[in-house]
Amino acid sequence: MNFKIALIRGDGIGPEIVNETVKVIDRVGEKFGHTFTYVDVLMGGCATDTVGKSYPDGTAELCRSCDAVLLGAVGGPKWGSDKPAEQRPETALLAIRKDLGLYANLRPAALRPALADACPLKKETAEKGIDLLMVRELTGGIYFGKRDKYQTEDRGVEATDLMAYSEMEIERIGRRAFEMAMLRKKKVSSVDKANVLETSRLWRATMHRLAAEYPEVQYEDVLVDNCAMQLVRDPGQFDVVVTENMFGDILSDEASMITGSIGLLPSASLGSTAPALYEPIHGSAPDIAGQDKANPIATILSAAMMFRYSFKLAAEADAIEAAVDKALADGYRTADIAHPGEAVIGTRKMGEVICNNI
Ligand code: IPM
Ligand code: MG
Repeated sequence: MNFKIALIRGDGIGPEIVNETVKVIDRVGEKFGHTFTYVDVLMGGCATDTVGKSYPDGTAELCRSCDAVLLGAVGGPKWGSDKPAEQRPETALLAIRKDLGLYANLRPAALRPALADACPLKKETAEKGIDLLMVRELTGGIYFGKRDKYQTEDRGVEATDLMAYSEMEIERIGRRAFEMAMLRKKKVSSVDKANVLETSRLWRATMHRLAAEYPEVQYEDVLVDNCAMQLVRDPGQFDVVVTENMFGDILSDEASMITGSIGLLPSASLGSTAPALYEPIHGSAPDIAGQDKANPIATILSAAMMFRYSFKLAAEADAIEAAVDKALADGYRTADIAHPGEAVIGTRKMGEVICNNI
């Protein structure tokens, strides 16, 4: 089979980690008899520098002409919040999610066996294991609601961001969560703030309606503040956690931290028709960019998710994951996951080791 993959290399460490991931994808191709065509897509701060805006015209069309999109990282202090919206990398990220209709963001947070001691939680807690899947709504809520900033008579400037959710939006993300749970440990924890927010009360009612359609799935409502606490108290209790856009943004960072290295965690953003987008959870790490120090594993594992979800090639996805686990089990460490005094390898070497394990 031939697959066409859009590559958004992006900013900071993005190009380096995408390079290593492409090597791994090509290695999988050799081994399993697939070929890949890569289409470079300019987006992010690098696009601002070359064409004056972070989301050049035609970006979405170019991505839509491919079978899947792989993104390294976008962003950096050079294009900060003081810059106009069209120059900021985050604007591009939100636009591509919206334009490709990528409403379901899957962020698995699992403790990898070789790195169990990287978990910052109590030993007893870590020993119970962590293997949860955060399912974050990605194209609605406060991220995309109406915004305003205006002068008041007596209170200075006022700003507002509207959080809106429709039943349709809640139902489709909820369904994804239940379907994922059916393939895992059959538990869904739906996170909301129904004791305060109207959107959350609609969220909860919709989830309850869905829960009735999936009697095999154990379902619970969790308030978002309690969820933040439970994630550090006893994360082993969670299987699939489904939540709205902003809660998911915050909780997924927390979930990634408890696994010990944000450099290891992949993500997938899926819609119903357009190509899906795969990217590491971490950012562009401008402080170590271009120094062969970044950990390419999160991006390589994102490619594994691409094989699994976009190409429906589970054996290929398993092969990548096993190659990563073997590299870690054999003691290979990039700086972010090394103990003090342990030997450290660079981005390229980690890519090479993983390729050779396939
Ligand atoms: C993420 C990031 C983005 C978000 C930012 C960069 C806009 O934090 O993917 O989690 O808030 O969604
Ligand atoms: Mg975030």
